[in-house]
This record gives sequence, structure tokens and C-alpha cells, in this order.
Amino acid sequence: MKKLAILASGSGTNAENIARLFHQGNRIRVSVVLCNRKQAGVYERMQALGVPVVYMPNSSWDSDPDRVIETLRSSAPDLVVLAGFMRAVRPEIIEAFSGRIVNIHPSLLPAYGGKGMYGHHVHEAVIAAGEKKSGVTVHYVTEEIDGGEIVMQQEVEITPEDTPATLEAKIHPVEYDLYPRAIVKALDELEGSVPPFGRQEEVLKPEALSAPLQQEKREAAASSDSSACQSPDEAWAKALYINNYSDAKAEQARIRVEEGHLPPPSPGSKIPSPQISGLHPAVADAVSKGVAIPKSYMWVSVVMAVLFSTIPGLVAIVYSASVSSRLSCGDIAGAGRASRNAQIWIIISFVLGVLAATLWVPMSLL
Ligand code: GAR
Repeated sequence: MKKLAILASGSGTNAENIARLFHQGNRIRVSVVLCNRKQAGVYERMQALGVPVVYMPNSSWDSDPDRVIETLRSSAPDLVVLAGFMRAVRPEIIEAFSGRIVNIHPSLLPAYGGKGMYGHHVHEAVIAAGEKKSGVTVHYVTEEIDGGEIVMQQEVEITPEDTPATLEAKIHPVEYDLYPRAIVKALDELEGSVPPFGRQEEVLKPEALSAPLQQEKREAAASSDSSACQSPDEAWAKALYINNYSDAKAEQARIRVEEGHLPPPSPGSKIPSPQISGLHPAVADAVSKGVAIPKSYMWVSVVMAVLFSTIPGLVAIVYSASVSSRLSCGDIAGAGRASRNAQIWIIISFVLGVLAATLWVPMSLL
């Protein structure tokens, strides 16, 4: 099991996506998140996933790097992952985790990197310069800001209508797809083994993210080793050790996700899950293993309960009405029977109502 420590400063959608994705498999875990801002969205996002977030003030990042190093070391990370971390990392920290820190940057580095280039500033500069393409880069962190060796990079087309905001909206889903792959690649590189996705080209065209995998598949087929013949999705699921993967299930999950039947976040979370749309089908498949209850469940339950309890309820009313009329005729025994029958039909009405409401769940899922 590989462990990640994430550094974040803001909303934390990348951090959440990484944790959600890897926690579907049993290969990689996010063990801790360090955040330098008290009001960041990442606290709520990670709380919903059960990942601890430690507040580490800017003063520590500036003048007490040992405290940062100690906190990171206490979770023994295999890789330190900067996900929207808006600070330069001190040389002492880089030294302590030498070659084991990666960062995501929302441009095609080395373009639009360096001091002052982060978040929306990058998109504003790219649009102002009239660029035709931008992208996402994952790179190793060195003392040169945004200057370390590139792990993976992917292009994003810019259209004339694009604004910094629409470009950011295009970039985010690409980040959600690229960063987990780059993390797996970096972990494999650090271990010295061959990455499961093969060696990536320096810059991947948007449509070619899985090309190395498809190549692998072709090669596997050519060598007629049927056990090695796997789709890109299978390879990805395998890389994350997601069990019970099948293309058909992934396709179903993808359709459910596109239709808006998002798998619920962890219990108690009120966080919307925009990152789910950026998940790979294999992950969507894994995420969607929880059974989806139809949205209409509540109303159907109410209608079923009313329908099934109304008729016995009416019978109970007729019996109870006859109690007083029998008493007024002096039919004590008849009144007693009517009263007993009324009680029995009230119980039947209640039981049928409850059963109709609750049995609708399994019935509707069959
Ligand atoms: C991401 O777009 C990331 O690439 C960028 O900040 C955003 C954080 O979003 N990082 C940088 O600009 C680093 N130089 P998030 O908090 O929702 O993951």
C-alpha cells in the first residue's frame, strides 16, 4: 500500500478527486492533507472522505520547515502531492522528500509557470496572450518554481470564445483525469518498475490519453497472450487494484454518471461531486458499486403506503362505527366482536402500509 500526503490551499477538488479515486482500490491511500489556509474548502471535502486535514500556518511554511517535515514524516508518505498548493515549497522540505514531491500546474509548462503564475492568474495570462492551446502539467518539484522534470502533460484546445473562466472549467476535468495517472506513474518510477501505462509521450493530445495503453493492448494481442489482452480501462482498474472490473459494468456506470445519478458522497457530506464527471469509467464503476436508490423513492413509497393501508383502514372504520350502533341496540356481544375486528383491521392497515413503503426499495431495484 502506497501512501500520499497532499498539500492544498483552496477548494481542494483535485485532492478530493485523488482520494475518492484511489480509495476505490487497495493500492494507494491519501493518509494526510496539510493546508495553509483556515478557510479552505479542502477541510470539508476530506472530512467527508475520512482523511485528516492538518492546518499548517504560513508562518511554519516560511520559518519552521522542520515542523512541516515532521508532520509529513509522521504519515510516512511515499509521495507528497501538491494539489492547488499556492506557496513555494522551502528547499529544506524539498530536500527532505527529494524526488518525491509532485505538483499540478494548469498550463503547458514551461509556458506560464513561475512566480505569480497560479490558479486563475495562469488562465488570464493565457487568454490575454491569445493562445490557441493550454493544458495541464504534472511535474516533480524542485527549487525552481514550476521547473522540475515533467511527469505527464496534456493539452487543452482554446476556442476564440474562451474566457479565463471557461478555460478553467475545461482544465479542471483534465486535471482530474491526468493527476491520478501521473501519481501512479511517479510512484512506479520511484519504485523503479515499468509504469502500467507504458512510457508516455512528453505531451499527450487530448484524444490520445490512452494511446500507450491501446498500443500495449495491440502488442499483447499480437503476441497472442490472451491473459495480457486488456482494454485501457481494465489496465487502469488493474493499476489501482480495483477488483471485479468489467467493461460492461464500467459502461453502465459511465452512463449512470452522465445521466446525473451520481454516487452519493460519504454519509453526512453535503458536498456536490463535480469531480465525478471527470472520473475514468473504471473509477466511476467502482464508485457506483453502491446501489442507487431511485430519486422518486419517497413519493412512490408514500403512494404505495396510502394505497395499501386505505382499504383495511376503511374496513376498520366500518367496524368501529358499528360498535356504537350495536351498543345502542343492546347487542353487547356484537359490539365486542366489532371492536375486536376494528382493532385487527387497524393492525392490518398499519402492517400493509409499512410493508408497501419499505418493500418498494428491493422491488424497485430488481
Ligand atoms: C488547480 O487548477 C491547479 O492546477 C492549480 O490550482 C487549482 C486548484 O484547484 N494549481 C496551481 O496553479 C499551482 N501553481 P483545487 O483546489 O480545486 O484542486
